[in-house]
Amino acid sequence: MQKAWWKESVVYQVYPRSFMDSNGDGIGDLQGMISKLDYLKELGIDVIWLSPVYRSPNDDNGYDISDYQDIMDEFGTMKDWEQLLKEVHNRGMKLIMDLVVNHSSDEHKWFVEARSSKANKYRDYYIWRSGKDGKEPNNWGSNFGGSAWEYDEQTDDYFLHLFSKKQPDLNWENPVVRKEIYQMMTWWLEKGIDGFRMDVINFISKVEGLPDDEVKPGKKYASGSKYYRNGPKIHDYLQEMNKEVLSQYDIMTVGEMPGVTPELAKLYTDDDRHELNMIFQFEHMGLDNGANGKWDLKELHLKDLKANLSKWQTELEHSGWNSLYFNNHDQPRSVSRFGDDKQYHRESATMLATLLHMMKGTPYIYQGEEFGMTNVSFASIDDYRDIETLNFYAEAKEQGQSEEQIMASIYEKSRDNARTPVQWDDSDNAGFTSGEPWIQVNPNYKKVNAKQAMEDPGSIFHFYRKLIQLRKQYEVVVYGSYHLLLEDHPEVFAYKRTLGHQELYVICNFYGKPATIDLDKVSGGQLLISNYKETETKELRPYEARVYLVENQR
Ligand code: NOJ
Repeated sequence: MQKAWWKESVVYQVYPRSFMDSNGDGIGDLQGMISKLDYLKELGIDVIWLSPVYRSPNDDNGYDISDYQDIMDEFGTMKDWEQLLKEVHNRGMKLIMDLVVNHSSDEHKWFVEARSSKANKYRDYYIWRSGKDGKEPNNWGSNFGGSAWEYDEQTDDYFLHLFSKKQPDLNWENPVVRKEIYQMMTWWLEKGIDGFRMDVINFISKVEGLPDDEVKPGKKYASGSKYYRNGPKIHDYLQEMNKEVLSQYDIMTVGEMPGVTPELAKLYTDDDRHELNMIFQFEHMGLDNGANGKWDLKELHLKDLKANLSKWQTELEHSGWNSLYFNNHDQPRSVSRFGDDKQYHRESATMLATLLHMMKGTPYIYQGEEFGMTNVSFASIDDYRDIETLNFYAEAKEQGQSEEQIMASIYEKSRDNARTPVQWDDSDNAGFTSGEPWIQVNPNYKKVNAKQAMEDPGSIFHFYRKLIQLRKQYEVVVYGSYHLLLEDHPEVFAYKRTLGHQELYVICNFYGKPATIDLDKVSGGQLLISNYKETETKELRPYEARVYLVENQR
């Protein structure tokens, strides 16, 4: 296993709109972010992943980019961004930027030109097809609901958009498009950034002919995803990108990839294949989805989580590298989703953190996770902002689902759960803004906030700090191999990491009632961290997590 700084790092994701507002317009911004860098340094993270800050009409909060080489007015200026990068580097941290190149905004100049006429030189930057029998060119649905095609009256053709109709897909078949993208990436790297997180990057190669897919019963559109995920030229494109751009710099890359197996992940991340450093896979995020997808609620079964995470740990043991996450700007808050955000808020948040951070891979923390921010239940759909949530609400209403049922799904799964403003303190608007926040603050901010957490040595925040320090202190946390323990235990997720003569035992009670295990193996081991202050008991207490280090004879 080759060593690398990005394997030894902990990454923190900032979703700038909701992070910190400096000018009272209710929207987070770059100066706000700069004012919180000391906080991030204190937490101990190494790398910041910054969600898009580029110019954008914000149909999808910045994931619809109208100028890849400029900053959104609401967030500040390029000067602010340059200051941010400098201040991040001054504190010994790194900055990676979001790269959104499966699609642009329909307000990008390329698309404005492209839609103006069939003869325009930018026309072929996007994916245009004529209609079939007066209907869309194929039956694919968009990931945000409705058809994946939008009719353009002026040129009497349809364009493909796998996300909103304001996010037309770029045509990667066109070498000029690829060249433009590589130049843009190089431009940012020359400015000194430390890498990229690549948005749905395994969607960029579509199967030729864009064939129809099977429409499932009760659905209007087909998924189509088997024709655009991990498509025929994806490895060629990534290897080309690596050769032209990535390999020229000492950076880190992480590709967001819905619908990948460990076999594919190895192809994407094996050092010798020169594609990406690691990917975000989604299998564990789908374990609480019912047969009809994310809004169809299902309880998570611990045995499924154990089997899934262990599979990824084992499969990528010798080639490739894992990313480790339970949260990001698209997922509900893990303490509400997998833990108990009421009675055992601290215990369950710290248990989940232990489970994740002691695994092999690069851990990602999403803003607010480090002090246990929770899901939110706004009273009305009018309080929600996320395009995916709003589209789901409208479609589900149309299909006759009850308000109660729809809101129940939204409370569990809406992306806005992750997007409420960071709760910095117990002052108005949780200290996020002096104005009116673009999305309401979670009402629990008086109790759950960063200031209070920093002042309490027993808080979730200080627990995360300690987990990060353990990763720095013990190589076994980074490079040790993984073995699942107690595979059939119904309540406990336990595993061992091994490197040289060291063994690390990670033991997590996944539920809010006591659990019994045989602790013989760890007797004589050193307790490195635990989320209960009181002395060790024979039984594991609700959501108890412990990590032991055992040093074997050389
Ligand atoms: C994945 C991003 O994480 C999500 O926020 C976005 O809506 C889609 N890709 C489309 O860019």
